[in-house]
Amino acid sequence: MKFTSGLALFGALASAQVIIIPTGPVKGPNTLVFKEIGGVPNNECLTFTNNGNIVNAACANTHADRQVTPGKILGTDVLIVQRSFVSQFRPDLVGKTSCVAFNGTSFLADDCARKDILFARFDVGNGRIVSNGHFACLSGHDSKAQVLTDVNGLRCSQFTVTAVAPTRP
Ligand SMILES: *[C@@H]1O[C@H](CO)[C@@H](O)[C@H](O)[C@H]1NC(C)=O
Repeated sequence: MKFTSGLALFGALASAQVIIIPTGPVKGPNTLVFKEIGGVPNNECLTFTNNGNIVNAACANTHADRQVTPGKILGTDVLIVQRSFVSQFRPDLVGKTSCVAFNGTSFLADDCARKDILFARFDVGNGRIVSNGHFACLSGHDSKAQVLTDVNGLRCSQFTVTAVAPTRP
C-alpha cells in the first residue's frame, strides 16, 4: 500500500517537472586559441582587436584576446569571445558576452544576445570557422595579417586549436 502511494507521488512530481532551457550562451568545457594553418609566420593566431575585429597576431595563448570558448545558444553552436570590450571602442559590448558573428561581409565580435545576426561556429571536422546558416568562412589573411572572409565559402582557411586556461577578461 505504501509502495503504491509512493509511485503515485513520484508520478505527480514527474508531471510537474519544469525543464528550464537557458536562452543565453552556455560555454562548453574547452577554451581555445585558433592558429591558422599557413598563416603569416609568428602572426598565426586569431586575435580580437579593441573594436571587435579579428586579426592574426602572435600566438600569445595566455592573452584573453586570443581565447574563444565553443558553446551553444539554444542548441546552436557558437564561439564565445573571452576578452571584454571598453566603451571607447565598443560601447555596445560593455558588460556583455560576445560571440563571433557574421555581419554579411566580415566576422567580428558581437553581442551574443542579438537576434538579428548570424553567429559563427567551429567546424571541427575540417578545421574551419564558418557562419551558421550561411556559406561564409574565414579565408586566410592579407599582407598585414588581417583576416579575410569568403562569403561563398570556397576558400576557407583551416585552424588548429590549443586548449588553454581561460584568462580573466
Ligand atoms: C561588418 O563588419 C566589418 C568589420 O567590423 C565592417 O567593416 C563592416 O562595415 C560591417 N558590415 C556591416 C554590414 O555591418
